[in-house]
Formats: sequence, structure tokens, C-alpha cells
Amino acid sequence: MRVAFLSPEAIPYSKTGGLGDVAGALPKALRRTGAVDVALFTPLYESTDRRLLDALVFESLEIPWRATIHQARVWYSEAGGVPTFLLDAPTYFARPGIYGYSDDHERFAFFCRATLALLRLLGQAPDIVHGNDWTCGFAMVELAKLRARDPFFARTRTLFSIHNLAYQGAFGVENLSALDFSDAESIGLFRQNGAASALKAGIMSADWLSTVSRRYALEIQTPELGYGLDWLLRARRERLVGITNGIDYEVWNPATDPMIAARYSADDPSGKVECKADLLRRFGLPVDLSRPVVATISRLVAQKGYDLIREAAWAMLEAGACFIALGAGAREYEEFLQSLRDSAPDRVGVYIGYAGEALAHQIEAGADIFLMPSLYEPCGLNQMYSMRYGTVPVVRATGGLDDTVEQFDRVRRTGTGFKFGPYRAEAMLESLYEAFYCYGEPEVWRTVQLNGMRQNNSWEATAWRYSELYHTAQRS
Ligand code: ADP
Ligand code: GLC
Repeated sequence: MRVAFLSPEAIPYSKTGGLGDVAGALPKALRRTGAVDVALFTPLYESTDRRLLDALVFESLEIPWRATIHQARVWYSEAGGVPTFLLDAPTYFARPGIYGYSDDHERFAFFCRATLALLRLLGQAPDIVHGNDWTCGFAMVELAKLRARDPFFARTRTLFSIHNLAYQGAFGVENLSALDFSDAESIGLFRQNGAASALKAGIMSADWLSTVSRRYALEIQTPELGYGLDWLLRARRERLVGITNGIDYEVWNPATDPMIAARYSADDPSGKVECKADLLRRFGLPVDLSRPVVATISRLVAQKGYDLIREAAWAMLEAGACFIALGAGAREYEEFLQSLRDSAPDRVGVYIGYAGEALAHQIEAGADIFLMPSLYEPCGLNQMYSMRYGTVPVVRATGGLDDTVEQFDRVRRTGTGFKFGPYRAEAMLESLYEAFYCYGEPEVWRTVQLNGMRQNNSWEATAWRYSELYHTAQRS
């Protein structure tokens, strides 16, 4: 089974959020099954560490583009444990950020076109082209069209994974012709609410669809979380599968993690307290180990439940907790965090910005409670990192958070965290108070921690599910 895995971001080359983690880890796990021969295709950004590149494999890949031939270089690397081809096209990708430019639709349409040209040059058509999120929607459309007239791709099937339905890659319909999607059929595929949507076109065109948790696969078929595409997802539900993400057990392992102050495990969790002291020091907070440390790491956007955090922050501090937040995003939330820290400098630690991996690991290891009150959450990875690090998640029961965290039951001593349903600050506080109460009983707390640490959320089982899906798609 030969798979071309396309992603706009992938660890260790680039990352803005969970997709970067998934695209770094899933292909590696697929390869380890021994059943899938996978290669990763991703752009080379200004921020990509050049030391990761092994060789320049194509000096001038020729890409038919905007009525001419555009040339790009292609680098090869196995630094992430998987054969990876990085598209070096400075016009589009030598910029400080990964997304957020007015020509994003053009940049990623180009990435898709170039990847198909590269696949042809590599000589063996993949059985599956697996695209991720709206940026890869263009490849789904092109392959559906190409297959009919191009014997090279005749047997290739497509899988399109939705990591976040809210990001639809919308742009003006008038731009479609410059991207070579000017025929009426293509326009129909892209058209959504008066604009063109690369996500919608991908959902229309791919042979199979997947999303990153079982519950989210159901939620996106409802008007509430369907972002205007629920009708389409309902129409294609026979081809839509929810596969809950795993996490990279090599990278996120407190027993071997070189980035944290002390190593620990479920068998010997004693090192965690050293990590907590280290974390408090890093954020300039008094090293008072008795208080529960509540932490959050996320993009600062409404999706992540920051409105609830803002509303409940003082109540949480009054209940005795310390609060540590790492994140970057919307100005209103950044300002809220800064002013909270200024008002309670002994209890609140804030890092605004994208910090890279080390600080995220140190927070996961040093905190007691990880707060994730998301409005919606396709999967979420930090709650799984938290459980692995003995940091108890308090989450809203939505999407992948609901699939991966089990409510703690004090009587039966089962469960891995605390969950609440309604999107309301009081509901979140109730769960936090319950967590604080359990934290006050060390033996009970140890049970919740260990229940989480003993969960198996590795990619191994999940990779097999993708492998099966590839086979199903190939037969379809
Ligand atoms: P999403 O993809 O919606 O942002 P996930 O929970 O799937 O949410 O993944 C977020 C990933 O990004 C995690 O690995 C998290 O540690 C990381 N992350 C988010 N914000 C930051 C930040 N400001 N600095 C460092 N890492 C961050
Ligand atoms: C998206 C989602 C997040 C998910 C990640 C990886 O960014 O917001 O919930 O974990 O993709 O699939």
C-alpha cells in the first residue's frame, strides 16, 4: 500500500498546532505497521530548520502553473523518521509565517499542483493520496479530474482528513480561473456561500473522508458544528469515518523526556514534584507546592474556550489555584492574560507567543491540572499529553475531548479527568472545584493521575485503522 501523505505542516519541519504533530507522528506510525509505504509531502518554509534536510533531490521540478511552467526545488529528509519531500518554492513559502496571507489559496493550490507533478516524476503512482485540511482540498479536486484522462493516476484513490471544519480556505470565486479551475464543474465544487471554499471542494471530491475523533464525525453533521457544510457531510456520511488521533509516545514520554527537570513514570511518579517546582520558578512564581497549578496551552481563539476562562479566572484563583497560560492569538485574550498576571503576579504566569516544544513539555510535566474548556474540539492533543504526564485534564465534553477523557468516579475510582457539558463558566468551575477537592486528598489524586498515565493513546492502534481505511478506499 503506497501512500502519499500531504500536509501544510509537519513536525519537525513546521508546526502551528495539532496538525503539525499529527503529520509528524501518523506517517511514522503507519510505516511502523510494516503494511504501509508512506512518504510525506510538505512545503519548505522560511522557519524550517535547514539542518534537517538530507539532500537536494530535484533542482528544477517543472510545474504547469498559471499558463506557464513554474520551477521549484525539492529537498529530501528522513529527519522525522519518514521519507519526506519538501517543496522549495520561495515565491510562496519563504515567508515568516505558515498561513495568514491574502494569497493563501494560491500558495496551497500551488503546493498541491507541485506535489502531483512530483509524484509523476517519482515514477510510481501512489495507491492513496491522503490530504489534510483545506490546504490539500485542491489535490482532491485535481485527482478526481485527472483520473478520468490520465492513466498514471487511474488507480489512485483519495482520503481527505478534516482536522478543523471551521477553517475552510475561502477566497473569491474570481480567483478560480487563475488556478485552472475555471470549468463549470470545478466552480460548482468550490462554490460555497458566494465564495470559493477549498475545504468544501475537497469534501465533494475525495473518495473517502475522515475526521479526527468519533464524536466530531457526528458533530460536524449537525447545523450547530457543521459550519454550513453539515448538509454535505450528511450526504456523504457513508464515506465519512471518525478516527481519534493518537499521540507520539516517543516524544511525549515523561520517563525519557530530555526537556523536563526530572524524569518520572507511573511506576515511579516522584520526579513530577521537581518538575512542578521548576515550572513555578520558570514563571517567577513562589515555589508553593501545596497549591494546585492549573495550566493551559493553546491558540488564543474562541474555539479553545477562552471566554469561559476569562469569566472564571478570579474564582479559580480565589479557590487557591495558581494559573499558568501559554498561548498566542487574538489580541483580546492576550490582553486579558496580561492584565490577569499584572493583578495577581504571585499566582499567575503567562507566556504570550509561540514558544516551541520545550516550554510546552515543561508545562505538561509541571502542572497538576490541564484546563481545556473548548467550545468545540475536533480531537485535541494536549489532554492526551497531560494524561501521559500525570496532569489531570478538566475538559468540556465535546469532540475528541469527550472521546479521550473519562469522568473520574470517586466511588469506583475509575476515570482519568473531569468533564462538564454546558458551555458555561459555572459548569467549568464546578468541574474545577471537584478537581481541587480531589487534589486535596493525595491518595485519591494519585489514582486519577495513574489512571491517566496508564491509558494507551499511542498511534499504534490508530495507524492500523488508517491502514484499513486505505484498503477500503483502494477497493472503492
Ligand atoms: P489545535 O491544533 O486546535 O491548536 P491541539 O490540541 O490539537 O489543538 O494541538 C495544539 C498543539 O500546539 C499542541 O502540541 C500544543 O502544545 C501546541 N501549542 C499550541 N499553542 C502553543 C504555543 N503558544 N506555544 C507552543 N506550543 C503550542
Ligand atoms: C485541529 C483541531 C484539533 C486537533 C488537531 C489535530 O487543529 O483543532 O482539535 O487535535 O487538528 O488533528
